[in-house]
Amino acid sequence: MKILVLGSGAREHAIVNCLLRDSTAHEIIAAPGNAGIAQVVDVVAMDPTDGVVVAEYAVEQNLDLVIIGPEAPLVAGVTDVLRKAGVPVFGPSKAAAALEGSKDFAKEVMEAAGVPTGRARTVSTMSDVDAALDEFGSPYVVKADGLAAGKGVLVTSDRAAARDHAEFYIHQGPVLIEEFLEGREVSLFVLCDGDAVVALSPAQDYKRVFDGDKGPNTGGMGAYSPLPWLPTGFVDEIVETVAQPTIREMSRRGMPFVGLLYCGLILTNDGIRVIEFNVRFGDPETQVVLERLDSSLANLLLATATGRLAAVPAPQFSSDVAVTVVLASEGYPESPETGRAISGLSDALALDGVSIVHGATAVSDGGFVSTGGRVLSVIASGANFTEARERAYSALGLISLDGAHYRNDIAESADR
Ligand code: AMP
Ligand code: GLY
Repeated sequence: MKILVLGSGAREHAIVNCLLRDSTAHEIIAAPGNAGIAQVVDVVAMDPTDGVVVAEYAVEQNLDLVIIGPEAPLVAGVTDVLRKAGVPVFGPSKAAAALEGSKDFAKEVMEAAGVPTGRARTVSTMSDVDAALDEFGSPYVVKADGLAAGKGVLVTSDRAAARDHAEFYIHQGPVLIEEFLEGREVSLFVLCDGDAVVALSPAQDYKRVFDGDKGPNTGGMGAYSPLPWLPTGFVDEIVETVAQPTIREMSRRGMPFVGLLYCGLILTNDGIRVIEFNVRFGDPETQVVLERLDSSLANLLLATATGRLAAVPAPQFSSDVAVTVVLASEGYPESPETGRAISGLSDALALDGVSIVHGATAVSDGGFVSTGGRVLSVIASGANFTEARERAYSALGLISLDGAHYRNDIAESADR
């Protein structure tokens, strides 16, 4: 197959690597890609949110499949332009991408579909914010309705901070005040072709920047898969109580969901609740889920894109476990320092079971430099979490980047 992967992060690098592992050789192009991706496949300069440009390229190159990594092109409607041009595309329409693009819309769909989620109020004035903060009490959960590059959610027991967060985002659109939910979080990726629903292996993400879940939320500092502590039947239960009802509700509304529904879940004492939906692969969970995927990713995603998901064999996952740890720049997430040299990558890569995907790097003077907050993800597989963790952290010990930081506790409690 000739496949275009849109996006430029570590997630897209992981997708490209997984496509390259296929027993059938594919021609893969990434746009715009990044310096790490450019080491393994061709990259072309392209604005991934410009549907017309992407569709022109896809038609001209006679592509078999376009895989959209990030949310921005989805919410911008790139999928719709590609479908109109007859190009098979993995990713939901602009209308269906609102499941991520508007938290209020997602809540409304969940309510209509009977999907369990936290109680919330969508508010547009500061007096309604105050009333909702009173209603739910501390700790306060305040969320921007729209996309906010991972910065839209604040969980705090500081009422003034909760109010300030709401005031900042209310100028851009509605704000949601939600009840605080407590429990372990799970990310479950579910492929949907508009009708059929197929879950991948669950993963856990670490959102807070520091060990022990301290510090501000980030895009994700690490992940592991599978989750041995999940109750038996968990994945089937989520498919039946969350994914299928949501997909049916979207079809009923005339906006069939085609692509990946990322179910962000929390296991509370009162049962499972959906914290959020995303409409794309998660970063860094993709790094560990795809590390363990033994089936052909290209076949799965093409079947999803073309409505044939029910006809393909269920995805198979390795019994090995996978751990990923994100190496972040000094100052991340508030104000990452960039332009610093990275060394030691080849030594790290020489370790058994270790691979590296790039999130924010560029080539300079024959080596790599950092260009953003989440610089790279070290991925390690192993027979168990002790082995995978040992490999991942040994690799990180060999990599140098001035001022960089990473969490030391990724997958530490995976077996408990
Ligand atoms: P979201 O972008 O909605 O996934 O939120 C980011 C993170 O904030 C989640 O992964 C949770 O750790 C936390 N969070 C979101 N909503 C809640 C909630 N209702 N109660 C507690 N924590 C939450
Ligand atoms: N790791 C969280 C996300 O991709 O949204």
